[in-house]
Amino acid sequence: MAKVNSITIQPAKALRGEIEAASDKSISHRAVILGSLSEGVTHVQHFLEGEDCLATVAAFQQMGVQIEHPKPGELIIHGVGLHGLKAPQKAIDCGNSGTTMRLMLGVLAGQNFDSELTGDDSLVKRPMRRVVEPLRLMGAKIEGKDNGNFAPLKITGQKLKGILFEEKLGSAQVKSAILLAGLFAEGTTCLNELVISRDHTERMLKEFGVGEGFLVEPIGKRTRSYQLCIKPPIVLKGKEFSIPGDVSSASFFIVAGLIVPGSDVTIKNIGLNPTRTGLLTTLQRMMPEDKKDKFLNFNTAKDLMKEPVGDLHVNYRELKPVKNRVLAPIPFLIDEVPILMVACARAKGISHIKGIHELRVKETDRIKSMATNLKKLGVKVQEGEDEVMIEGTTQPFRGGVELESFGDHRTAMSCAVAALCADKAVTIRDINCVKTSFPNFFDLLEQLRK
Ligand code: S3P
Repeated sequence: MAKVNSITIQPAKALRGEIEAASDKSISHRAVILGSLSEGVTHVQHFLEGEDCLATVAAFQQMGVQIEHPKPGELIIHGVGLHGLKAPQKAIDCGNSGTTMRLMLGVLAGQNFDSELTGDDSLVKRPMRRVVEPLRLMGAKIEGKDNGNFAPLKITGQKLKGILFEEKLGSAQVKSAILLAGLFAEGTTCLNELVISRDHTERMLKEFGVGEGFLVEPIGKRTRSYQLCIKPPIVLKGKEFSIPGDVSSASFFIVAGLIVPGSDVTIKNIGLNPTRTGLLTTLQRMMPEDKKDKFLNFNTAKDLMKEPVGDLHVNYRELKPVKNRVLAPIPFLIDEVPILMVACARAKGISHIKGIHELRVKETDRIKSMATNLKKLGVKVQEGEDEVMIEGTTQPFRGGVELESFGDHRTAMSCAVAALCADKAVTIRDINCVKTSFPNFFDLLEQLRK
């Protein structure tokens, strides 16, 4: 029998209660990578049991790293040190995970063995040149379609040398791949981070004891630019730690709590790293002046792995549209743009979200996937190459329609949240992709329904 791969979402009266969102995907990947490359044991709690992060676990297991998985969310990684990986016997399958593929390119380029990376139908269409090019400057040999832009990618292990690279894209995957390759290079690898992106790799390198081997300096007087330098020889040491909740996963419930009248939702233990909280800043600026104070009570009491962590409390608000200076820097909310588009569709007036060309090359073209779905719900949307205009309404969306995830987890979850505000039930097709980052998303949504 074919597996059910669609869901019908009924309109919601209110969402109320307390939940924990899925664990952080970016941090989970990095925990496996740095744990595997460390000396000694790394013990991880609250690891994300999503398909993307499990692909990273399987990749290191294929290279001889013993990773125990005693219960869901717990990993015991027996690190092999920087030079202990073994040649994989077959191509490493990164599934749907761009983070796995791009960060693994950084790890594999400087090994003394050859390897191959592949992925699913979506991943083999995503651009890898952004990582392949700087790695080639370091001496990497990587081959694939369109001069190494698309997987499957064949990596011939090489001796790498340090470079100075200017990162202008604001991509944490590019930055992380270069820093990881730098661990294996001869000489110092420096990266000028001209557009700041999530800094989990940097924080985690420090936690794994990289010490003087990793330097972070502001560039000149411009405090918003940094030079990051990796200076081998480096030894990483196994760690014990717990991964916070993913603010990107929490964002679906944050917006749901804001747009469904009568809602009051608390989301516990969320990572509030300032390079990830652009959606929260933006939503805060979408509040009418007199309503700002009670929105989103951050409680950043705890500090896990030197990542700030807190609880979020959110309740129903009227929103103002996104105009000039409302939007936080895009890299700080890159994965939240689809759900921000839903928030804009509920904010009376015209919202304008600019500078989002990177959304075109995510798991699907997210500008297009969200524009298509919002239009089916009766929302007026105008798509530009690098931007989108949305005419928000406080009237119920048009229900009784079928929406499409286009195989993208964040499109699927954003559509589910939008469906809560429709006048009739809405069906969302192709929802298995949600398992890549938030396996119990739909259960939590039902749990909050009142
Ligand atoms: C990620 C970085 C971002 C983000 C992705 C996860 C990471 O991608 O969209 O979901 O863990 O480094 P880019 O580096 O392409 O912006």
